[in-house]
Amino acid sequence: MHLIISTSLRPKGQTLALSEKALTFFNEKNANAEVINLQTINLPFCDGGECYKDQAVLDLTKKIKDADSLIIASPVYNYSLNAAAKNLLELTGSGWNDKEVGFICNAGGDKSYMSLMPFANSIMLDYRCNVIPKFVYATGDMYEGNKVVDSNLIERIKELVDSILVTN
Ligand SMILES: Cc1cc2nc3c(=O)[nH]c(=O)nc-3n(C[C@H](O)[C@H](O)[C@H](O)COP(=O)(O)O)c2cc1C
Repeated sequence: MHLIISTSLRPKGQTLALSEKALTFFNEKNANAEVINLQTINLPFCDGGECYKDQAVLDLTKKIKDADSLIIASPVYNYSLNAAAKNLLELTGSGWNDKEVGFICNAGGDKSYMSLMPFANSIMLDYRCNVIPKFVYATGDMYEGNKVVDSNLIERIKELVDSILVTN
């Protein structure tokens, strides 16, 4: 199972649309994949202790651990992935060991392209994740409403999914 985790908490946001676009490319290849929308899971904030007994955290950690790959689809907030993405990693990090991880970032402008690197560095060093060096970076002008219309963006999402399927 390949997981695409959409970390945007904005209902019907563009990040979820990008995640669903990625899912179509897995579906085209008959690969087993699922979008996890963090808006639908009631995760606690990481407190470094009691949170690890939370059933939603236990379930999601196991799901991540069992996954063949992860795509983290996140909005860029303050030159970083959003806080929900960081919280997800803090809560479920024990499931990330040796995982292949791709990124789809959704940003307001084109200046934050490198902003995911602290997150990527952390998972490479802490969990020995294999980060796919082919980031998808989307900006607001690539949509009509919430529909992904930019052909280069669509091609890049396809390439990311293809790179995952080559090795899994
Ligand atoms: C708190 C906040 C901080 C943001 N910081 C950045 C930023 O540093 N760089 C950037 O390009 N866009 C930034 N944006 C714009 C968001 O990246 C953009 O609105 C978001 O990707 C939309 O995703 P969504 O449709 O899933 O909500 C910020 C937006 C918010 C709400």
